[in-house]
Amino acid sequence: MNNYMKLELAAIGENESFARSAVAAFALFLNPSLTELSDIKTAVSEAVTNCIVHAYRQGKEGDKIVIECRACLCPDALHGTLHIEITDYGCGIDDLERAIAPFYTTLGDEERSGMGFTIMQTFMDDFSVESERGRGTKVKMVKKIGIEAADEVEKRANA
Ligand SMILES: Nc1ncnc2c1ncn2[C@@H]1O[C@H](COP(=O)(O)OP(=O)(O)O)[C@@H](O)[C@H]1O
Ligand SMILES: [Mg+2]
Repeated sequence: MNNYMKLELAAIGENESFARSAVAAFALFLNPSLTELSDIKTAVSEAVTNCIVHAYRQGKEGDKIVIECRACLCPDALHGTLHIEITDYGCGIDDLERAIAPFYTTLGDEERSGMGFTIMQTFMDDFSVESERGRGTKVKMVKKIGIEAADEVEKRANA
C-alpha cells in the first residue's frame, strides 16, 4: 500500500519544528519504532534548517520549502520505506562534495557544526543531494522502517 504527502511552507525558523513533526506524523502510517521516528525527525530537522539558514541567506517573504514524502507499506504491514524530498529555491551549492564533507560549514562563526549532511547520512538509509547555483537544492533521503521487527518475526517463524 502506498501513501503520499506534499507540504509547502515558509522558510522561517518557526516552521522547523512543524516540518519535522509533520513528516513524523506522516511516517506513522508505516508503524515506525520510536527510534526510527526520532531518526527521521533529526534528519528532516537538519535538512530544513539548511534551507532556512543557508539557501535563503537574505530570507524574505515568499521563500519556500517543499517537502514531499512517499511511503510504501509492505503487505505484511511490518515493514516499509519512507522517501523524503526536501527542496528549496535558494542560492544552491557550488561544490557538493565539499559541502557534504564532515565539519565543512560556510557559517563557521555562527555556531554551525558542519555536521548537518553527515547526520542526515547517518540517520537515514539512503541520502543524496542535487543542487544548482542560483536555482536551489533538493535533498533526497530514504528510511527503511521495521526491518528489525520484520526480521524478528521471520526468525520466530523459521525457528
Ligand atoms: N539548502 C542549502 N542551500 C545552500 N547551501 C547549503 C544548503 N545546505 C547546506 N548548504 C551548504 O553546505 C554546508 C554544510 O551543511 P551542513 O553539513 O548542514 O553544515 P552546517 O549547516 O552546520 O554549515 C553549509 O555550511 C552550506 O554552505
Ligand atoms: Mg546544517
